[in-house]
Amino acid sequence: MAVRQFSRISKLLPQNATFVASSKLSSTWANVEMGPPDAILGVTEAFKRDTNPKKMNLGVGAYRDDNGKPFILECVKEAEQMMLRECVDHEYAPISGPPEFCKEAAKLAFGDNSPVISEGRNVTVQGVSGTGSLRLGGEFFSKWYNKNKLFYLPSPSWGNHTPIFKHSGLEVKSYRYYDPGTCGYDFRGAMEDISNIPEGSTIVLHACAHNPTGVDPKPEQWKEMSALIKKKKLFPFFDMAYQGFASGNIDQDAFAVRQFLEDGHQMALAQSFAKNMGLYGERAGAFSIVCGTKEEADRVMSQVKILIRPIYSNPPVHGSRIAARVLSNPDLRTIWLGEVKGMADRIINMRNRLREGLAKEGSSHNWQHITDQIGMFCFTGLKPDQVEKLTSDYSVYLTKDGRISVAGITSSTVDYLAHGIHQVTK
Ligand SMILES: Cc1ncc(COP(=O)(O)O)c(C=O)c1O
Repeated sequence: MAVRQFSRISKLLPQNATFVASSKLSSTWANVEMGPPDAILGVTEAFKRDTNPKKMNLGVGAYRDDNGKPFILECVKEAEQMMLRECVDHEYAPISGPPEFCKEAAKLAFGDNSPVISEGRNVTVQGVSGTGSLRLGGEFFSKWYNKNKLFYLPSPSWGNHTPIFKHSGLEVKSYRYYDPGTCGYDFRGAMEDISNIPEGSTIVLHACAHNPTGVDPKPEQWKEMSALIKKKKLFPFFDMAYQGFASGNIDQDAFAVRQFLEDGHQMALAQSFAKNMGLYGERAGAFSIVCGTKEEADRVMSQVKILIRPIYSNPPVHGSRIAARVLSNPDLRTIWLGEVKGMADRIINMRNRLREGLAKEGSSHNWQHITDQIGMFCFTGLKPDQVEKLTSDYSVYLTKDGRISVAGITSSTVDYLAHGIHQVTK
């Protein structure tokens, strides 16, 4: 009876409806909940839907030229042309990535004449850009760092740090970093918190151009932090996603990493070539660990490879081949250094113009932090309701914490932005 009734009802339903209904009920994945959208990609989606011709997307962390267009570096184009002419093959890279890339990445971070490199004490492998390098580090620490599983991040930190390290099985905590009162570095708060971190914990440090705040410690402050971190027996894990982007000078931006090495720290380091070479989608980055001896480095390398092999086997090579060429070919390197400086200078110029624009608008607020902060991002200090108003009234898109990507501002949009910010902060 029931079967006959069901077949009669099913005739009334559109074709496939019974199949869809029953497969939904019985699907293995029926219990999977809808997750929240990514905070930054959500901003981009809203931006795309907006039809205002004056709309600005200041959410995404990618460099744009003064016409608001993605920027392909000349040195990268030339390296690609060379590779095309040479008909480079598409063979697998070694598990640890192309050796010449790893060598060049380590030299860029630690310095050409670093004893760590000449003594063979660094383990450096290609990671899948900065994110993959951080994750590889997280996995290595989870498996081999026996002191404790505590990872301390600056507050705030890049939004992906917490899930990267949590998914690696580590416990994530934080130390004070940003002072909303001054829109600057809370040095005293940071030092106080660091001195209370349990011995053996790992401390994550943004090497330069801190994301999201744009606030970096001064060289003397780095020195004091290094001494305290050593005294408290903490392990420094540097994230260097913006080398060259802060000051325009790759050596100046590596100050903290090199100072810590000089102070005798054994560090971990994640590097990215997404920003400083514009290789975002190519996923070129590196993960390094500084060891005590060459023999120890060989053992560590063997274990890092054992972690990589079952995750992605070996890394993508197009981006790392480009980066290796740019770094090792003197002509390309010279072009690159000029282009990195050009990108950093344009960002610095936009900071100055935005501050001037706010003054011209007659804003009575102190906007000095816009020019004091450094790198791609500026933590404006806008409150969530001001952010909302800037978006709804001026079609300016940014994250709720008030962070703007200065690299998304151009000469022709900066005054409009200054006007909008002034209107919502009056
Ligand atoms: C602080 C920080 N670390 C790491 C990354 C990783 O970037 P990618 O994986 O694109 O190299 C980013 C990117 O925004 C970042 O801001």
